[in-house]
Amino acid sequence: MRDIDLAHLVPDYIQTFETYYPSKPDSELMRMYGVDHLHRLNNNENALGPPPGVEQVVKTFAPTAVPVYPNGDCFDLRQSLAQRFGKAPDQFLVGNGSCEIIASVIKAFCERGDNIITADKTFAVYEWVAEFSGLEARLVPLKNNGFDPQAMLDAMDGHTKILFICNPNNPTGTYWDKDTMTDFLDAVNNRAMVVIDEAYSEYVENNDFPNGMALMDRYPNVVIFRTFSKMYALASLRIGYLCAQGEIVELIRRTHIVYSVNALAQKAATAALINDGSFIEATRRMVGQAKALLCEMFDGLELTYVSHEGNYIMVKVPISDTLMYRKLMKKGIMVRTMTGFRFPNWIRVSLVQLPVMEVFCNAFTDILKGDLRHGR
Ligand SMILES: Cc1ncc(COP(=O)(O)O)c(C=O)c1O
Repeated sequence: MRDIDLAHLVPDYIQTFETYYPSKPDSELMRMYGVDHLHRLNNNENALGPPPGVEQVVKTFAPTAVPVYPNGDCFDLRQSLAQRFGKAPDQFLVGNGSCEIIASVIKAFCERGDNIITADKTFAVYEWVAEFSGLEARLVPLKNNGFDPQAMLDAMDGHTKILFICNPNNPTGTYWDKDTMTDFLDAVNNRAMVVIDEAYSEYVENNDFPNGMALMDRYPNVVIFRTFSKMYALASLRIGYLCAQGEIVELIRRTHIVYSVNALAQKAATAALINDGSFIEATRRMVGQAKALLCEMFDGLELTYVSHEGNYIMVKVPISDTLMYRKLMKKGIMVRTMTGFRFPNWIRVSLVQLPVMEVFCNAFTDILKGDLRHGR
């Protein structure tokens, strides 16, 4: 049999691209770390679970529905989204998680030689999809832990097709207020598309937070991303969506995989949208209490931390982040190491119920005391 000449077959940008390996299943991790439970504080999931209507949908999903393809373009869910946000159904495009629609938008607007602009320390998938598509990702440093509008404008050139703004930003939680956002959009002046990723918008209660859904009426180049993974707690079902002007969505739809969103996810998302807001309030309350507890502990330990919006907090640890991860894992707690986000020796912790946060606080302080005592 002849060898495959991979060097010839595989583009340079794929050969040099570093593979991202997601974490192993919980059962495997528990075996590796010798623990019989695991608190997952690594993925910013909503530990309270989805709105009440979702449980019924999941329980009653009929086996007879399994052999049948789902709505190929999430027809019913798009009707519900349209009603919920006062838009037309054709202004929505639903994906297998909002991660999938990142790829659809990039494919629709970018060709070889083009670039996208985002921050250096933000959700990395914008950068990754651009790079493994052979496009340049221009990464603008954060300023005071927030996206820097002027530096992003300065980085634009004639080949810039998309600017990705994560609002609020994962992992720092900072956001652009209404004025900053509209000043930025005025300055872009339709020269490129502006994607505003609002994955964590439902966690923000401040009045100066811009509503992306309204912005697109004034700025035709705005595309809003939302997800059912975070506030709505449907992460395992993989469902997210974009909203933009109909003409823009029609273009992006051309590059989007149809039938990628399964039927259960579509039904669960529709049910999640019909909620009275009480579970959103309960989630915000849980996050607020958890944030207060952790900030107090970090203050007491004189550690540097970054805490703004969203259901997560970042703290700089006095040992390496991977060592802290391993030590916490041995105590049944999983956090996110942040070296991969270009925050070496920081960890990010999801904000969940107080009893779990207390377990985290005890484990964290024990580890720090132990390490300081042993001079590590
Ligand atoms: C800012 C941001 N956008 C998008 C996503 C992806 O969400 P989804 O589960 O819809 O793919 C995440 C997930 O962590 C995120 O943090």
